[in-house]
Amino acid sequence: MLYSELFTAHLKQLKTGELSTAVEVLIEKAFAVSRTQFWIRKNQPIRDAGGLRKFRRYFRRLLADEPLAYILKEKEFFGEKFMVTPAVLIPRPETELLVEKTLDILGKKPARILDIGAGSGNISIVVALKSRARITAVEASGPAMRVLKKNIARFGMQERVRPLAADFFPKKTRSFHAIVANPPYLSRKDWDALPPGIKCFEPRTALLAGTEGTEALKKIVARAPEYLLPGGHLLLEIGQGQLRAVRAFLKAAGLKETEHVRDYRGIARVIIACR
Ligand SMILES: C[S@@+](CC[C@H](N)C(=O)[O-])C[C@H]1O[C@@H](n2cnc3c(N)ncnc32)[C@H](O)[C@@H]1O
Repeated sequence: MLYSELFTAHLKQLKTGELSTAVEVLIEKAFAVSRTQFWIRKNQPIRDAGGLRKFRRYFRRLLADEPLAYILKEKEFFGEKFMVTPAVLIPRPETELLVEKTLDILGKKPARILDIGAGSGNISIVVALKSRARITAVEASGPAMRVLKKNIARFGMQERVRPLAADFFPKKTRSFHAIVANPPYLSRKDWDALPPGIKCFEPRTALLAGTEGTEALKKIVARAPEYLLPGGHLLLEIGQGQLRAVRAFLKAAGLKETEHVRDYRGIARVIIACR
């Protein structure tokens, strides 16, 4: 069989809406070739039996709805490749908005940042790479913490990003210039409606936050003033339709909303407040 025949035969098996690039990417991973090498070899017969077995295994997982990022064990976020396993949420493009806003606020000044619910460490690590901030990356899940530590080491960020196992906030109160969080924010109803690719593979504890979806956001907002310096910022990623509820939490905590940002679908996705 030629590489081009393998490619077209498997492309045909994908459901509509799925990308042809997934097949290409899996061929590249299974046969350990670059995109250019794949296109050069397109009309050559496949002689790598091990590569072929690997490709078939990967493809079966793709057909069973497993996200491509878990099969590849990595996901690009803000132009950087992060290790991901089913212990962590796959970084989403919307979260880049949260990081952009955090970087705008930080500028080039040294700062102390608290990242709540760090997961793979995507937010903490990009902020560390692109600013002079030091970050405390809080994560409650043990398996997610192992991935977080691996990513910190992968980027050589051990001096700048400190992983901390805690329930939202560090035990010792310390003042931060900013708190950033992409917490779980799906309601029970949102969770029930998720496609199987997310619901069966991504960690429930990273997504679901009580009946209304605002449980984690409420807890974070309520305690944020204890951990923020005067003038410090709280930056939160929120779910569809949660702006009003989060505004009420901010008001109750005495924090002042400075801005909210809509994502490419027009959904209020990031809310920023100041102490
Ligand atoms: C939506 S994911 C975000 C992951 C990552 N920051 C990102 O943006 O892709 C939420 C994360 O919060 C963590 N988490 C949930 N409850 C927590 C708690 N009480 N304390 C700390 N982390 C928590 C989850 O394990 C998960 O890694």
